[in-house]
Amino acid sequence: MERLDKRLANTGKWSRKEARELIRAGRVRVDGAPCRAPEQKVDEAAPVLVDGTPIAAGGPVYLMLNKPAGVVSSTDEPGECTVLDLLGEEYRNIGLFPAGRLDKDTEGLLLLTNDGPLAHRLLAPRSHVDKVYYVETDGELDEGDAWAVRAGITLADGYVCLPGELELLSGNCAQITLREGKYHQVKRMLAARGKPVVYLKRVRFGPLVLDEKLPKGGWRALTEGERQALFRQ
Ligand code: URA
Repeated sequence: MERLDKRLANTGKWSRKEARELIRAGRVRVDGAPCRAPEQKVDEAAPVLVDGTPIAAGGPVYLMLNKPAGVVSSTDEPGECTVLDLLGEEYRNIGLFPAGRLDKDTEGLLLLTNDGPLAHRLLAPRSHVDKVYYVETDGELDEGDAWAVRAGITLADGYVCLPGELELLSGNCAQITLREGKYHQVKRMLAARGKPVVYLKRVRFGPLVLDEKLPKGGWRALTEGERQALFRQ
């Protein structure tokens, strides 16, 4: 048994506050009868309808997070603020984890989900999901750097990166697109060019584009269109 507002919020479609408003507005039916009490305990198997549409029981959740610097991309790390600490309480115990990692000082788009098979597929090396970053470096970026990224940069440990794209924006700013996700990859690639990264933000992950309306540390459920695009990826 769980509270009706929590059951709605667990779908990822509504925040707990929105769920309470829907319920109080009489738009939610449980077991065929209208229910206006957010605190009402409902059985896991009880059919719940919002505006006549059934919600999936305990279905997977997909959230877009605008990760701020200073937060670690893990679910449990003593002494650190984790991405789960940024979420509402109702999202902390439903098995969410980040699909991929951003460094502690990297900002931007992180997908949080409890859909293991989808995350596994998106992160598999052979999936080559595009990841796009906005980057600022200590040192001016130039056509030589763009050419090197296209050709495949060799890292200090000898690993040869897959070809990527570097679009010069201005001076020391660029947008870089990678199709793999090695540890500290952007930083190590640009360090190999003698241009250390001083700021990094992920702006796209596969079909997902960072919602610029999300403040740092803000998050929202993926839209139906975004979810469908991820499944097609
Ligand atoms: N590359 C990096 O160096 N750091 C990140 O957080 C992501 C990509």
